[in-house]
Amino acid sequence: MVSRKVKTESINAAKLQYSSKHNRFLNNDVPKYSFPEREMQPRAAYQLIHDELNLDGNPDLNLATFVTTWMEPEADKLIIENLHKNFIDHFEYPQVEVIEERIVNIMANLYNVPDKEDFIGTSTIGSSEAIMLGLLAHKWNWKQKRIKEKKSFDRPNVVFGGDTHVSWDKFARYFDVEPRVVPIAADHFTIDSDRVKEMVDENTIAVGVVLGTTFTGEFDPVSEINQMLLDLKKEKGLDVPIHVDAASAGFITPFYEPDFKWDFRLEQVKSINTSGHKFGLVYPGLGWLIFRNEKLLPEELKFYVNYLGDEMPTYTLNFSEGSSMIVAQYYNILRLGKEGYSSIVCKMMSNAHYLADQLKKSGEFELLNDAKHIPVVTFKLKDEGKFTAFDLSYKIRERGWIVPAYSLPPKAEKTTIMRVVIRENFTADMVDIFVSDLVKAKKTLDKGTKTPEQRDVRKGHPVS
Ligand SMILES: Cc1ncc(COP(=O)(O)O)c(C=O)c1O
Repeated sequence: MVSRKVKTESINAAKLQYSSKHNRFLNNDVPKYSFPEREMQPRAAYQLIHDELNLDGNPDLNLATFVTTWMEPEADKLIIENLHKNFIDHFEYPQVEVIEERIVNIMANLYNVPDKEDFIGTSTIGSSEAIMLGLLAHKWNWKQKRIKEKKSFDRPNVVFGGDTHVSWDKFARYFDVEPRVVPIAADHFTIDSDRVKEMVDENTIAVGVVLGTTFTGEFDPVSEINQMLLDLKKEKGLDVPIHVDAASAGFITPFYEPDFKWDFRLEQVKSINTSGHKFGLVYPGLGWLIFRNEKLLPEELKFYVNYLGDEMPTYTLNFSEGSSMIVAQYYNILRLGKEGYSSIVCKMMSNAHYLADQLKKSGEFELLNDAKHIPVVTFKLKDEGKFTAFDLSYKIRERGWIVPAYSLPPKAEKTTIMRVVIRENFTADMVDIFVSDLVKAKKTLDKGTKTPEQRDVRKGHPVS
C-alpha cells in the first residue's frame, strides 16, 4: 500500500502498554504514527500487535482469496528454518539457488517445453512480477528486431483482454507500452481471437491470454488465439508471441486436464507465469516465470551476482527475496508429486462442483461459472431488487465468511457477481454450512433488516 499522512486527531491514542513490574497491561499511551521514544517489553509489543490483528478476517473462511492459507507442519518448519536466508545471496546460500533451478526445470517440463535442454525461467515474488518480467523481455526483443529492420520503435503496444488482472495495466503504464484492451461482451466474459486480431499490428510486443481470469475463473481461448497468430505469421510475416497468464491454472490444468493444450505445446506460446502461492499450495509470495527458449530472455536484461566464485545470471525486479517460499514449493513438489497434486486438485474440483450444484438447487442464484476449469464458482443474485450482491457480501460477513462482490469489467459492468475460490481446506461439509448461511442471509435481506430497537428484544433470551 502507498501510505499517506493519516488524518486522525488521536494520533497518539493507542492505549495499551505492558508493565514489566506487574506483568499486566496499563493504560500508558504508545505513539502510533511517530517513532516511539522508549522501548517496551517483547511480550507487550507482541500482545499489542497480536490483539490488533485479531480484527483481520479469518483466512480459513476467506473464500475470496486464491492464495494458500494452510500448509503442512513440516512445510511450516522448513519455512521457519529458512526465513533468515536472503535468496539473492547465492554465494552464502548456494543450495537454495540449486533448489530454485530444479523447480524451474520441473515447471518447464510440466509446461511441455519442446526442447528439454533449452529453456530459462526464474522464481518471482508473485505472478505480477512474473508478468512484468515476461513482457519486458518481449518488449526488448521486439525493439531489437525493429532496430535491425531500421524501423521505428517508439510505439510498442501490448494486446490483452478486459478480463485480465490489473498487473497487465500496471505493466503497460510502468513500462510505457500502449495497452490495447480487447473488450469483453455484456454476456461473454472472455476475449475472442477475432477481436484480438483486429488489435495486433507490427508494434505488438505480445498478446496476453489468461487461464483462469480473476473475474470469473474462465479461460481465454488460447488455442484459437495461437492459431490466429500462426495464420497472421504466414499471411503478414508478423511473429507475435503469446504470454500466458496462468496465475491460477498453472498448477491445476497440468493435473486436471493434462491433454488440454494451453502451454508450450502451442507454437506461439513463448512465456508462461504462474503463482506458486495460489494452487502451487505455498503461502505468499512466490511466482514462476518460464520462457520457451533461452534466447527469449535478452542478455542485456540479465544481471550477474557472484556465486561460488562464478557469476550467476539473475532476472528479477527486486534484488533481495526470501528463500522460504522457494523451499516450501520444493517441499510440496517432493511431498506430493503428480499423484498428490492430482488428488488435491480433483478434490477441490469436486467440492467446487458440489458448491455449484448446491447454489443452483437453492433457487436463489444464477451461476456464471460452475468451476469448468479451475475450482472457482461465480454466481449472481437471480434478482437484484431490494438489495445487491454487495449487501449480501456484507451480511454473510456476520458469520465470518469473506466472499467478494464486484462488478465485471467495462461492457459487462452492469453485472454484479460473487466469487468463491475453493481451496484445499474448503470441504464438502463447509460447502453445506456456507450455502445454508448464504441462503439464510439472503432470506434475512429479503425480509428487510431490522435494527435492535425495532426488534422486540424481550422475546430473545439473554446470553451470558
Ligand atoms: C489472472 C491473474 N493474473 C495475475 C495475478 C497477480 O498475481 P500475484 O498476486 O501472484 O502477483 C492474479 C492475482 O489474483 C490473477 O488472478
